[in-house]
Amino acid sequence: MSDIRRIGICTGGGDAPGLNAVIRAVVKSAILKYRWQVIGIPDGFDGLIWPEKSRPLTLKDVSGILPRGGTVLGTTNRGNPFHYCTIENGVEIARDISDEVIANSRQLGIDAVISIGGDGSQKIALELFQKGMKIVGVPKTIDNDLSATEVTFGFDTALVTATDAVDKIHTTAESHHRIMVVEVMGRDAGWIALEAGIAGGAHIILIPEIPFTIEKVCTHVALRERYGKHFTILVVAEGIRLPPELKENRRAGAVGNLVGNAIATHTHKDVRVSVLGHIQRGGSPTPFDRILATRFGVAAVDLIAEGGFGKMVCLHNTKIEAVNIADAIGQLKTVDPQGQLVNTARAIGICFGD
Ligand code: F6P
Repeated sequence: MSDIRRIGICTGGGDAPGLNAVIRAVVKSAILKYRWQVIGIPDGFDGLIWPEKSRPLTLKDVSGILPRGGTVLGTTNRGNPFHYCTIENGVEIARDISDEVIANSRQLGIDAVISIGGDGSQKIALELFQKGMKIVGVPKTIDNDLSATEVTFGFDTALVTATDAVDKIHTTAESHHRIMVVEVMGRDAGWIALEAGIAGGAHIILIPEIPFTIEKVCTHVALRERYGKHFTILVVAEGIRLPPELKENRRAGAVGNLVGNAIATHTHKDVRVSVLGHIQRGGSPTPFDRILATRFGVAAVDLIAEGGFGKMVCLHNTKIEAVNIADAIGQLKTVDPQGQLVNTARAIGICFGD
């Protein structure tokens, strides 16, 4: 029998569609299956600095949130209790306030915490676990770059948004005989660019994992022209490694603009750039993301009941399992340049600029 009576839940890092579905699943299964109370901690671990801001979450509180994007708990991608930054006399000071955070969670009567977040949030969760907090993790990122899980919720929704954008770009690109660049998210990994590029019928895909040159990109544009295709669509991940000639300009703005300008200079063709940005983080989660998020939420509650602290739920061979957070963090899952998906794209003539 578990001695858990009350659990806390927080969402940290960049938001992702499906966070509310996890919160709903946690609250429902904690209350209905285990008769526990649930405390909603606002804005990631920052919420434990001011315990008075935390509040109980009831079945009523989570009613209707399943299809909503964002997180009803709020989030931050700056809050780290081991390196908490404040400005004092105009100078930034970083302090370790983890003891305070742990003491505040005890004061709230929280027996265990569910931390929903990406790599950064799970690192914090691990450190708090090592200091004695009973904690379990739920992985999240639209970039789908966490190695411990086959897929994270939020990715599918972002993919639908990005693919829809590429579909829409198609007709205007063709009508105007233009080169159109669509910049998508993916700080370290090119999953959104690769999959939206394939699904949306892009002609060139640039991802962080495959170095490219503007020359090779323009050669492909010229090849298409020779075949009578006077428009070209590029999907570009925000995290691409720029070739040396573009590097100096990196601070000038979105990489999509840098790539677009360079192509315009080389080809003398009309180029337009669309930077999708945070649109990919919003919107109602797809059914796939709602279901995965719900499975993760229920599994995280079960993990607490089993005493599986210091672990994170994950998807493995279509089953929900648990891994040690210590083994899950710090290793990103990036696109394999020699992998099946890239080879499939190459086989249908998609160019990677290499
Ligand atoms: O980690 C997910 C992500 O969507 C990245 O692709 C992107 O670089 C980052 O978040 C942007 O986050 P923010 O604008 O919230 O700092």
